Amino acid sequence: MTAPILRTLAELREMTRGWHRAGETIGVVPTMGALHDGHLSLVARAKELSDRVIVTIFVNPKQFNNAQDLENYPRTEHEDARKLERFAVDAIYVPDGAQMYPDGFATNISVAGLTNVLCGAHRAGHFDGVATVVTKLFTQTSADLAFFGEKDFQQLQVVRRLARDLDLGVEVVGCPTIREMDGLAMSSRNLLLSDQARSRASALNDVMEDMAEALGQGASMGDLLPDATARLATAGFSDIDYLEMRTNDTLRLIETASEPARLFAAAYMAGVRLIDNIDVPVVR
Ligand code: PAF
Repeated sequence: MTAPILRTLAELREMTRGWHRAGETIGVVPTMGALHDGHLSLVARAKELSDRVIVTIFVNPKQFNNAQDLENYPRTEHEDARKLERFAVDAIYVPDGAQMYPDGFATNISVAGLTNVLCGAHRAGHFDGVATVVTKLFTQTSADLAFFGEKDFQQLQVVRRLARDLDLGVEVVGCPTIREMDGLAMSSRNLLLSDQARSRASALNDVMEDMAEALGQGASMGDLLPDATARLATAGFSDIDYLEMRTNDTLRLIETASEPARLFAAAYMAGVRLIDNIDVPVVR
């Protein structure tokens, strides 16, 4: 079933008002489009937990710190709507830039602490852009539940923080990363890889899995980094932004897996920035 595509806030509000009046819960899946099975797993979870599901598609200029990256970002609205048909979502909200950031828009939402590290340290303003648009999407959709992938684990923690801090009344639901057969985390950016770069990109997950296993057996990051970075370079990764282990909740940098933690990486494959994170077993 084709869901209605809503392009204005007025249309969206009219629809959600009726649902709330009927006592129905609303789940939102915020996306920038170019939907893949990772997004679709969020939609499936949203369908399980909410009475009504809205998928939002908006390539948010405020979260791109590089104009070329914004321009290159895949835009596939027609295909996205087709992929959503089998889920029978209740609405697809596709606002344009003027709808989201009308003339004179001057508000910025900034989450301190969590955003100074990892992608926040390498992409100036990125998380302010995410926090601002997500806050708007939560209030525009009047969502009760919102679904985010663990693939963007730092983003998930930032969104959880802002939803709590601003009393937005939205329960943020984290969903596991969905991977290709060779382990590469699904991402809209994978579409930008050539066939050759795509086949090499799975090395990121291979290296991280090996590191996580060794960390779980008591190795330190210092022990593992020289070999890991050499393997990534051999596979064709350039410019590793970070390869770090951090605690789950506060994202504090740690050297050994003495408490619940994840391994985080961001690196460039043929000019495409790929990120990933995986759970690290705590050393017994
Ligand atoms: O994860 C994304 O696709 C985006 O950062 C989000 C949450 C849709 C905000 O633009």
